[in-house]
Amino acid sequence: MSETAAKIIDGKVHAERVRSRVADEVARLRADYGLQPGLAVVLVGEDPASQIYVRSKGEHSLAVGMHSVTHRLPADASQHELLRLVGELNADPAIHGILVQLPLPKHLDEQAVIAAISPDKDVDGLHVVNAGRLANGVPALIPCTPLGSMILLRETVGDLTGLNAVVVGRSVLVGRPMAQLLLQADCTVTIAHSRTRDLQAVCRQADILVAAVGRPRMIRGDWIKPGAAVIDVGINRVPFDDPVKAAAGRTKVVGDVNFKEAAQVAGWITPAPGGVGLMTVAVLLQNTLTAAKRIAGLD
Ligand code: GUN
Repeated sequence: MSETAAKIIDGKVHAERVRSRVADEVARLRADYGLQPGLAVVLVGEDPASQIYVRSKGEHSLAVGMHSVTHRLPADASQHELLRLVGELNADPAIHGILVQLPLPKHLDEQAVIAAISPDKDVDGLHVVNAGRLANGVPALIPCTPLGSMILLRETVGDLTGLNAVVVGRSVLVGRPMAQLLLQADCTVTIAHSRTRDLQAVCRQADILVAAVGRPRMIRGDWIKPGAAVIDVGINRVPFDDPVKAAAGRTKVVGDVNFKEAAQVAGWITPAPGGVGLMTVAVLLQNTLTAAKRIAGLD
């Protein structure tokens, strides 16, 4: 028997495919309609992880031929300043997608900022109008991480009809929209969470298991049904296993799934890092393209 039973779902390959499709379509829109999709990213403060994500979003949007602007506000920016900027971007015809990087500094009201973004430009899919549209099964802008996870499942497992899907985690950003997408794909969907009884037994029922809990390596090999597709959304920083590196304060990223154990049992599995995380920015570009086409009446 090979050491790893599961097929590894390589996020890099799938993300490149999404970006390449987006780049082709952006070129076509520019040539045929003079329409250049535009993405505005707003960063408040200097959180190091957020700075890396925001830079990556700017670079990737330029690379696919989009118009790209990044607005950096100081950590002590007021709610009023931020809302005024969102209002300007809502009214700017060169901008089709607006993303306010989260988390915001504590003095700012995240919900009010998301509510101020025009639902047609809400490329994060976080506005209640988009959450409602998704729940009703009508065209919506869909949060990037669950949509990226869905693309991975479609391009690997294929038809999901009738499969048992278990989503562990009920966040607005991932768990809830993921469950809606799986339901639309005709899965039988369970949303499990920190209060679920016998979580291990629930997970073992899953043909598709999506882990989005934010707890490092929580899901063990014996929680997984043999042959299942496992999508690990977790991005957790932990000390290195090597005690010398750990003592030096060095950390690494691991998922919510114990990859070594799970890869012996699953049929497909995403590594973390190297899986879903790489899809998120690619899908943000896809959402910006979708928003631009809908705003222009070309969808
Ligand atoms: N911070 C971490 N993930 C995300 C995301 O998907 N969208 C936004 N806006 N901020 C984030």
